[in-house]
Amino acid sequence: MMIESAAPGKQAFYQLCELVNYEDPAPMWSRICEWSQVLTLAQPTLPPRIVELGSGLSFKIIFALQILGYSQELETIDLDIASLSAQAQVHRYLEPGFSIKLSAQDVTTRQFAGDSCLVVGNHFVDDFIANQFPIPAFPRAKAYSDPEMHRRYWLQLASLGAGRIAHHLASILLARCDAPLLLNNYISRFEGTHGLEEKVTFVNSVMAKLADLLTKSGHHTQLLSRKNDVWLYKKRCMAQECRHAGK
Ligand SMILES: C[S@@+](CC[C@H](N)C(=O)[O-])C[C@H]1O[C@@H](n2cnc3c(N)ncnc32)[C@H](O)[C@@H]1O
Repeated sequence: MMIESAAPGKQAFYQLCELVNYEDPAPMWSRICEWSQVLTLAQPTLPPRIVELGSGLSFKIIFALQILGYSQELETIDLDIASLSAQAQVHRYLEPGFSIKLSAQDVTTRQFAGDSCLVVGNHFVDDFIANQFPIPAFPRAKAYSDPEMHRRYWLQLASLGAGRIAHHLASILLARCDAPLLLNNYISRFEGTHGLEEKVTFVNSVMAKLADLLTKSGHHTQLLSRKNDVWLYKKRCMAQECRHAGK
């Protein structure tokens, strides 16, 4: 296991945080190291393409891949152009050994097939749900910057039921994502600061139901939970394995 203090990219990460006046970088560095460890456990040999869903202004995947000495391609998909340019800027700053491809697209319009890619999302499930279940009374930008509105918005979403939301997400993933998929959820800085743990518990329950639905549809899926941290790992479809084995 990587010793956090010796990890490549750590100095660049702390310099970058200083440059943008980001206070308290240690927890984020810890998340980056966690990603590098989980990626190694999930896929000891990383595929030629890693696709990140909805990176926003978070750079955890870029730094985690740098730690691992990844040398192929990271594709970042986000609807937000400013987030994509920030990813490109950090990539230029870090000069890692892998290339970056920026895709300004809706992730639900893409097809992720085969073994040659791994799809990842850091703290993306809540954004994915919010994108799929807009509530007109709560404009998204406001609901994601005003903690009280955020809390009320998620109470409304919770009233739809975790099962209904999980079914909807599963239908998208089953139709569009044959590739292995790795998603996590945890109490973010915003959620922790503003006492939004109830929302995190709800998103975690959607992930548990989603894992169940994917398993029932023939995908090897694991859900690992530790306190409020949840990781969902969908491997390749079992039916594909049968085809590969000639069954
Ligand atoms: C809060 S941000 C960043 C979350 C981030 N992954 C993290 O680690 O904190 C969520 C991002 O997801 C993007 N997003 C949400 N739904 C999306 C979709 N359907 N397709 C593409 N990007 C999406 C938004 O544009 C936004 O930049």
